[in-house]
Amino acid sequence: MENEPINPQREDAGQRLPVVAIDGPAGAGKSTLAAHLARRFGLLNLESGAMYRALALKAIECDVSFTDEAALAALFATTRIELQPQSEGNRVLLDGHDVTRRVRDRDVAEAASQVSVHPQVRAWLVAQQRALGARGGVVMEGRDIGTKVFPNAEVKIFLDAAPEVRGQRRFLQSGPAQAAVTEESVIAALRERDARDRTRATSPLEAAEDAILIDSTHMSFDEVMARSEEIVRQRLEKADSAQ
Ligand code: DC
Repeated sequence: MENEPINPQREDAGQRLPVVAIDGPAGAGKSTLAAHLARRFGLLNLESGAMYRALALKAIECDVSFTDEAALAALFATTRIELQPQSEGNRVLLDGHDVTRRVRDRDVAEAASQVSVHPQVRAWLVAQQRALGARGGVVMEGRDIGTKVFPNAEVKIFLDAAPEVRGQRRFLQSGPAQAAVTEESVIAALRERDARDRTRATSPLEAAEDAILIDSTHMSFDEVMARSEEIVRQRLEKADSAQ
């Protein structure tokens, strides 16, 4: 059956559950892919970017500058970020309030990319991400999951696509609510965010050496899902036979 998990939770057998790391630039389709793989393999889907977005939203609400690392770090003591995996992505709670929709806005995405350059911000969130995945059984997507958060992940996928294609997909998804937004402006914003994410000094966006690259520029999403499922299945079989 299409949606039946292939690898339902195997904790009873005392085995460590697998971690699937999906990294790549904005707009590559990581969230959709992560949600699909989580359903297919019976894993929890965790969007690490939503945590950076939630902290960025807190900075916006508290009028803290995105460039002031010490002031951002001072927010940690009064900030609680929770991810609740759902079938189509994560519900995001900031200090107990549902901010799932708000963190998707462009101003928050832009702020998230800016606050995420700071080593203290990254250390604080990476510790929480590791705790969330400590028992395995997760698909986590982001920029540094395979390189930094879970360097020993059983499966690492780096999902990429040409900026024009990612921008066009984002633009088509944005719908009538964002009618004032042009395709060119979406592509320009993605390029800017990519450049910042790829060139920051701490844990820049890059493929882990042992990640499998999927360039979806000329692929349909069904093809991306089929290829990814094949990769996960092969890697899990390999990990099982090594145990
Ligand atoms: O995946 P996203 O678009 O929700 O991420 C928002 C920003 O957060 C992204 O521009 C960079 C940052 N981020 C990061 O630095 N490391 C991650 N693991 C996830 C996101």
